[in-house]
Amino acid sequence: MTSGNQCLLLTLSLVSLLLCLQARFVFSHPPVTTRPPDAAQPWNLHGTPGDGYYTEVQIGTPPQKFNLLVDTGSSNLAIAGAPHEELESFYVHQSSSSYVDLGKDVEMVYTQGSWRGHLGRDLVWFPKLQNTEPLVTDLALITSSNNFYVNNSHWQGIIGLAFAALSQPKGDVVPWFDGLTAKNHTANTFTIQLCGPFRQGNVTRHQGKLYIGSDAGDCPAPSVTSPIRRPWFYEVLVVAMAIGKTVLDIPCVKYNTASSIVDSGTSNLRLPSKVFKAVLAELRKQTSATEPPLPEDFWSGSEEICWQPDHEVWTAFPNITVHLAHSNNSAFTITIPPLSYLRPALDVSETGDCWVLGIEESHTGTVLGAVILEGLCVTFDRAHATIGFAESSCGPTVKLSSIYNGSDWHSCVYIPSTVDGLTLASYIMLGLLGLLSVPLVLAALRWAWRSFVVPRLNPEVPFLTLDETNT
Ligand SMILES: *[C@@H]1O[C@H](CO)[C@@H](O)[C@H](O)[C@H]1NC(C)=O
Ligand SMILES: *[C@@H]1O[C@H](CO)[C@@H](O)[C@H](O)[C@H]1NC(C)=O
Ligand SMILES: *[C@@H]1O[C@H](CO)[C@@H](O)[C@H](O)[C@H]1NC(C)=O
Ligand SMILES: *[C@@H]1O[C@H](CO)[C@@H](O)[C@H](O)[C@H]1NC(C)=O
Ligand SMILES: *[C@@H]1O[C@H](CO)[C@@H](O)[C@H](O)[C@H]1NC(C)=O
Ligand SMILES: *[C@@H]1O[C@H](CO)[C@@H](O)[C@H](O)[C@H]1NC(C)=O
Repeated sequence: MTSGNQCLLLTLSLVSLLLCLQARFVFSHPPVTTRPPDAAQPWNLHGTPGDGYYTEVQIGTPPQKFNLLVDTGSSNLAIAGAPHEELESFYVHQSSSSYVDLGKDVEMVYTQGSWRGHLGRDLVWFPKLQNTEPLVTDLALITSSNNFYVNNSHWQGIIGLAFAALSQPKGDVVPWFDGLTAKNHTANTFTIQLCGPFRQGNVTRHQGKLYIGSDAGDCPAPSVTSPIRRPWFYEVLVVAMAIGKTVLDIPCVKYNTASSIVDSGTSNLRLPSKVFKAVLAELRKQTSATEPPLPEDFWSGSEEICWQPDHEVWTAFPNITVHLAHSNNSAFTITIPPLSYLRPALDVSETGDCWVLGIEESHTGTVLGAVILEGLCVTFDRAHATIGFAESSCGPTVKLSSIYNGSDWHSCVYIPSTVDGLTLASYIMLGLLGLLSVPLVLAALRWAWRSFVVPRLNPEVPFLTLDETNT
């Protein structure tokens, strides 16, 4: 989840619901070749496509067993601390002799979904993660939530692997990974290998592996790296995108407005509105020859398409290439096949396999979710402030380029301007207008007028002096 990562989870549940209500478009079906995860490997990440990847955890003394969603888009460890209709179990702190109450409440809001809870501390162990040990860890006991849990997802909480700057309440909790590396047994890096959806009998599942520390098992060493721009989210810089052979003709700053992050807790590739529209327009153009035409609702992500065996629709869909900065003036590309961004619809039909679009619009910036990560080994090297990428042996066939010299990427960096701040404030004001009484509306208008106009005339006037509204 980004503070945003639930989106995909939710979206897909909604999609499934919508789908039940809609007629299905039937297309024909190409040989789909994803490389299934090697059954002999000790996979430690599991799940259902769209519901995220989770790993096993034991909390408390004696240990209570749960699964936690593995999320590089947040930094709190949170566990269900109260029953909920979509949960099969929850953590009972009264049954743990090692539980310590920290006497504070905590709240987390993701792009979609949120929870409230209570801060505690207890012994936490991830038995399937190499190089880890039971560790006394700050955790949130979720007592109420909104759109957070996913029915039948088999996870009851979340482990946030991003930097401490994102943890809530700010400054009061040490993220689990920070606590682990502080003991100096483990290098300050981890690698995630997501293998993507694969059919197991008549159900679609996915698997992957989380390697803690510098030993990434069977994963090759990263062939390319991108700097982490700031330690909060795993923020990177996108410098271009191409659909098939067509490079999108949009200013590169649009990709990073307001940021671009690598987030294992988000399923889809989420793109800022301008980019999303350009990507969709190009995808539609390049697939326009498909017969019968792809239904309109497929492009909004609310309708699945199904293929019969022995047709060749896959080949109509282009590869998508994302260019990530390697340095101020060099970059590399990640090229994903259609199999990455067309995701299995969960209700398996008799007519063949069905798919939904795994690309969606974002209002917070670019989120490189599982759609981009599957088929790669991604090393979150916090010690060197880089994210490394290597081609993985499982999942869709994703290709990495070598590093190429480009122009200076500074124009791709989004710099929030004061005018943007004011524009944002004005949107908030506009949003509130409907709720306010007439005198307050007048006051708000006056405030907005002063905020916008006065600073331009006289830059010395401080912005957002809210007492102006108290007229
Ligand atoms: C969760 O799913 C189960 C079966 O898949 C269903 O019986 C139950 O009603 C669902 N619960 C909610 C809250 O949707
Ligand atoms: C870990 O290493 C750092 C720097 O080398 C040192 O300051 C710190 O005391 C060490 N911590 C432990 C628990 O050994
Ligand atoms: C899935 O397969 C199992 C046995 O392999 C069968 O019992 C079950 O009914 C099947 N479910 C569906 C929805 O086809
Ligand atoms: C997409 O990428 C794959 C792997 O790199 C390549 O074999 C294939 O030809 C590409 N497809 C198109 C339509 O360019
Ligand atoms: C990249 O650009 C930044 C900002 O202008 C600068 O501080 C940094 O030194 C540059 N890095 C390299 C390797 O040139
Ligand atoms: C990229 O630029 C560097 C120096 O700026 C040069 O050493 C290197 O050979 C260049 N690489 C390519 C592929 O042109």
